[in-house]
Amino acid sequence: MAGYSNKETEEGVGLLSGGDRKNDTLVFVVPHKIGKVRYDILKSASEKNKICTTKTFSSHVTHVVTECSSKAQLFRLMKWTEGSPLYRSARYLKLSWLTDSIKNKSPVEIVNCHLLSDDELESKCQELHAAKEESKLVSKYECQRSTPLHHQNENLTDALSAVEEEAEILDRKEDYSRALAFCKAACSLKCLTKPVSSIQDIKGLPNIGDHSRDIIKEILENGFSREVERIKNDHSLQKKKMFMSIYGVGPSTARKWVDVLQLATIEDVINCPSINPRKEARLAYGIAFHEDLKQQVGRTTAMRIRDIVHNELKTLDGEVTVEVTGGFRRGKQFGHDVDLLISHPVEGRETGLLQKLIHRLNSKGLILHGVMEESTFSEEMLSKSSKLTPKGQLDHFEKWIGIMKFPKNLETTPQDSVRDRKETIKDEFKEEGKKRIKLDHSLTVTDHNHIGSGLQEQINKSFQKSSTSYSPSPASLPSSSDLSELVKLAQSEREWRASRVDLIIAPASQYAYALVGWTGSKMFNRSLRLYAQRELDMKLTSHGLFDMKQRKPIQASSEQEVFEILKLQYRNPEERNC
Ligand code: UTP
Ligand code: MN
Repeated sequence: MAGYSNKETEEGVGLLSGGDRKNDTLVFVVPHKIGKVRYDILKSASEKNKICTTKTFSSHVTHVVTECSSKAQLFRLMKWTEGSPLYRSARYLKLSWLTDSIKNKSPVEIVNCHLLSDDELESKCQELHAAKEESKLVSKYECQRSTPLHHQNENLTDALSAVEEEAEILDRKEDYSRALAFCKAACSLKCLTKPVSSIQDIKGLPNIGDHSRDIIKEILENGFSREVERIKNDHSLQKKKMFMSIYGVGPSTARKWVDVLQLATIEDVINCPSINPRKEARLAYGIAFHEDLKQQVGRTTAMRIRDIVHNELKTLDGEVTVEVTGGFRRGKQFGHDVDLLISHPVEGRETGLLQKLIHRLNSKGLILHGVMEESTFSEEMLSKSSKLTPKGQLDHFEKWIGIMKFPKNLETTPQDSVRDRKETIKDEFKEEGKKRIKLDHSLTVTDHNHIGSGLQEQINKSFQKSSTSYSPSPASLPSSSDLSELVKLAQSEREWRASRVDLIIAPASQYAYALVGWTGSKMFNRSLRLYAQRELDMKLTSHGLFDMKQRKPIQASSEQEVFEILKLQYRNPEERNC
């Protein structure tokens, strides 16, 4: 026991010995927090009433009285460690027990108000205090914080996401700012390192509006939010949500299908005579392949898809680079699509690559459907003002947005074909609806340029069949009967599954900014751009950074440099999950 003498002196015992001591009571008056004068008064008053006190802690002590507010505080102050038998026999009390005993001229019975608050309560208080402090430390802009993928308040952020989603589905004029407000409130909670247990914990936390606060408060008090329960039980809203998960369907189409056409299922859509996706091929594929596309893409598949694309590109130019961006780069195990950022270290050499790549992928039967977008970028765009939206920041890169075909067995590729990679297996589980499904292996790719020759063979073999069974050219639009044809194809027995893939071409000079932009999250980008605009008078896009004061663009060659120019602490992609 350090810090305070535990030598068994007989000071107290000696002072009033034998029959003079009342009930063998020996009171250790903890001198801390008690002034010397007061201590002496207490000591002499005790002696007058034959209550023996001591300044020294020993095994003879029966009562420890202190001005400390809790046992934990006392132990810390005395630098005691718990578990010593010496302490166990004594009662730990507030000083009021001694003053009551003095008044009583004899040791009083211990009642509740004499007890020191217990340790659990104390640690709770400390936690609350720390959380309160933490909320004050949360920065104003999301891009100034570290926001991990998994955090301590998922029950609260899930609820806020549900109300945000409702606003997005309703899509009325006022819903845009409502959705944004819920999203921003959730972002603030995501960066807290402790679970919120009382509404006091979020005092001072930025971007928590009244509505979000009420939802949080209700969950903390009752365990659920009536608003979220109402949303879950709103059948019309749930149908719209399901329809909006179809590739090519936005809120207005979903509203029309549910409110006007009274549709409830994908089958209803397929059989509805007034739905004619002839003009919009994307929608026809989206409806027909909804089962495939609603299934999230696993991380392993995303990495394999990158390898396949990279392999094709390497036949065109050995120096071309391909990076998996989006949610996967931020550490997600699943995503709704695979976002691949393609570039070349030499400016200009990226030109024409995408056309050739799509041609090659198509000739191998890997393309189901896609739309090519030409680059619409020009230097003036760097300084042009554009509206910030929480969802989908449009950029001007040349890109291909579509659906690719991959062997169903991509996730179960034998280990020997991926020998050149470092695999870390995590036994993680993800709740998806009510079903519990096992997550695929988390894959850390150490070599970005190689695909095992075994895997390539397997892919080639896998695709020989599928490419002969159906191989539409990228330019082909379905005819009037195509939806039913596509449904037939989707429902046929096939060895491939359809996955959403975005292929984006970024010139070397814009690559660092493109990487930041396509890594996201959308909210992180939104915040970065707002911060750059408001704090630095600079305009940030996925194409570059423009200093509005000096009227000139600022070049950056890495993500680190982008953060440096913006005077922000660098955040790893895993910390950008706001
Ligand atoms: P996604 O919509 O794919 O988001 O856009 P995500 O974070 O990867 O989500 P999941 O996992 O697929 O569901 C990827 C990133 O690309 C940017 C967005 O900022 C987003 O963070 N992006 C997307 C653009 O910059 N421009 C676009 O036109 C689309
Ligand atoms: Mn994505």
